[in-house]
Amino acid sequence: MDKFVITGGAALRGEIPTNGSKNSALPALAAGLLTDEAVTLHRVPRVRDIRTMERLLVDIGTTVDVEGETVRLRTERILSPEAPYELVKTMRASSLVLGPLVARSGRARVSLPGGCAIGARPINLHIFGLEQLGATINQAHGYIEAVAPDGLRGAVVHFDRITVTGTEDLMMAAVLARGETVLRNAAREPEVVDLADLLIKMGANIEGAGTSTIRIQGVERLHGAEHTIIADRIEAGTFLVAGAITGGDLTVTRCNPEHVGALVSKLQQCGVEVTQPDATSLRVRGTGRLRSVDMTTEEYPGFATDLQAQYMALMTQAEGIAIIVETIFENRFMHAQELARMGANIRLDGKQAIVAGPHALTGAGVIASDLRASASLVLGALVAKGETVIDRVYHIDRGYEKIETKLAGVGAKIRRVV
Ligand code: EPU
Repeated sequence: MDKFVITGGAALRGEIPTNGSKNSALPALAAGLLTDEAVTLHRVPRVRDIRTMERLLVDIGTTVDVEGETVRLRTERILSPEAPYELVKTMRASSLVLGPLVARSGRARVSLPGGCAIGARPINLHIFGLEQLGATINQAHGYIEAVAPDGLRGAVVHFDRITVTGTEDLMMAAVLARGETVLRNAAREPEVVDLADLLIKMGANIEGAGTSTIRIQGVERLHGAEHTIIADRIEAGTFLVAGAITGGDLTVTRCNPEHVGALVSKLQQCGVEVTQPDATSLRVRGTGRLRSVDMTTEEYPGFATDLQAQYMALMTQAEGIAIIVETIFENRFMHAQELARMGANIRLDGKQAIVAGPHALTGAGVIASDLRASASLVLGALVAKGETVIDRVYHIDRGYEKIETKLAGVGAKIRRVV
């Protein structure tokens, strides 16, 4: 298994580019199932979760051609409307094929995900929504089977709680349903808006994406389209924290500053200088002293749960006490114990992590437990004294493309050991 060996202490300087968004590209790939024409996606990051989704689409019957960051999809016919356990267990976003498959072929069989490193993560809201649209759902042998032989019909779907992929899944189901669908308490994440933009290019009729009420008028059929995926706000945010924690002078390019507004505001409150040199860049400069600031994760436009672990690494180096509250997932503090092994002072109390700083970190052997937790360990290692060895970096490869090359390019002492 690959490992990262990182020697801390170097302040990061220079420019670091952002890739296309993994969490936007995943539903965009699934949307390719909604038409028999070609869908071409640009700026698709070459990360492991994307490859998993591409494998799933090939199994279903899609021809997938990859050239650099461009992916061309064509699903003339659905051969097997199924997402097997082997793929779903490595990537929950596989459940994103549920909506498009029922909409296109009247049938889908998707493995139930089971537990995961960051929480229970059920898909009950995806199922509830499809039932509202007229699908009949059966559960057996660990699989959910949804059938709608006469097609789906528009309905009002009021989500009990906000779900990002649930909103995306239902949006993809509703675009081919008869009549109007209204999604209430919908997720407002930029990835939802990006998916709506793609679907509209394919001929869908969608209004309100980016607000909590999305209205969809079903159409008979969708056609091919070409679309460029938005910048990955979580990757951009991770790099901003890397600049801040190392007290460097780092410009994160090819990003959308608006999408990381909540993080930028926190960084400024902590005493980090953040400026916007142009429309798609953010420059972060350490001022030598970090102040602790409390943070609570929220749905967009609040502070992203996907940046909580990275922020915790930063708070280990800040002066004072920071209370970090995780409200989205029930078990997303796995990085705290590993950061503590490096010398951080963190106490966990249910949904809260209490971080007292600054505590000098020292290099240690640590284990990556999930994607964003691994990112926080890389950040901790960048300021730790001596050498840190991070095991199981396949977790980080799920969502960050060549992070070690990018960080090394701005002065980090990091290498991959195979
Ligand atoms: N939830 C339910 N029932 C459902 C769906 C969700 O109870 O049917 C709960 C979840 O258990 C969780 C909360 O609702 O407690 C929010 O989950 P959500 O459905 O919004 O998460 P997701 O769509 O599965 C996406 C991202 C995650 C990100 C979350 C929250 C993708 C592919 N994944 O997951 O990204 O953390 O939204 O913003 O878009 C990551 O990239 O590292 C990652 C985990």
